[in-house]
Amino acid sequence: MNPMLSIDRLTKRYGGHLVFDLRAFELEAARAYVLTGMNGAGKSTLLRVLAGLAPADAEGVRFAGEPVRLAPYAAALRRDIVYVHQHPVMFSTSVAANIGYGLKARGMAREEAARLVDEAMRWAGVEHLHASRPATLSGGEKQRVALARAKVLHPRLLLLDEPTASLDGEAREQVLALIPSLTLAGSTVVMACHDRDLINLPDVRRLKLREGQLEEK
Ligand SMILES: Nc1ncnc2c1ncn2[C@@H]1O[C@H](COP(=O)(O)OP(=O)(O)OP(=O)(O)O)[C@@H](O)[C@H]1O
Ligand SMILES: [Mg+2]
Repeated sequence: MNPMLSIDRLTKRYGGHLVFDLRAFELEAARAYVLTGMNGAGKSTLLRVLAGLAPADAEGVRFAGEPVRLAPYAAALRRDIVYVHQHPVMFSTSVAANIGYGLKARGMAREEAARLVDEAMRWAGVEHLHASRPATLSGGEKQRVALARAKVLHPRLLLLDEPTASLDGEAREQVLALIPSLTLAGSTVVMACHDRDLINLPDVRRLKLREGQLEEK
């Protein structure tokens, strides 16, 4: 089977500091990955590079079988790869407007966008927050809104940077419960997290960044 994303070699440096040098990096379609590693191992950097938010040296990049470039970042990647920041930034409009923003930016008709936003809000269990201001949300609600905002775009690859790090108890469980349905819907999900966050999602692959290399655990 063709991997969804494959990169022959991916190297990232900050000045003279080598963050990682990965060979034969591959992600399968519709699969969940957990990306662990110590503080500073390069988890966020790897997600940001894949999302086109940080430059890196890449050789042999293929997305859904097609050769593409990371620099300049290919339009197909921009459409199909979505990154969710650990502390999602939201516009100070309504929750619904935040979730619909990307659809509007892509030129989708208003009614169709509204329907998809409603569907995504139900999925994330935040429909009651439709008209709320993002600044009033709890941490768990904010994460679920951020996931809804990402899911509504139907990305092939969803990059989540520590989606549960600031959550505990029920809020954490609620966010974790959403992950399997993302892969069922066909998205590949990569979640950066710390070992204590390691979770018993079904069929999750464990990747670990260590000394600039990626290990499968
Ligand atoms: N913009 C930047 N400029 C220079 N160095 C950076 C920059 N961003 C990250 N780094 C360095 O790159 C390395 C990897 O950082 P990164 O944030 O990717 O680690 P991480 O695995 O996500 O860590 P954490 O678990 O703390 O989130 C660190 O040494 C960090 O200091
Ligand atoms: Mg990080």
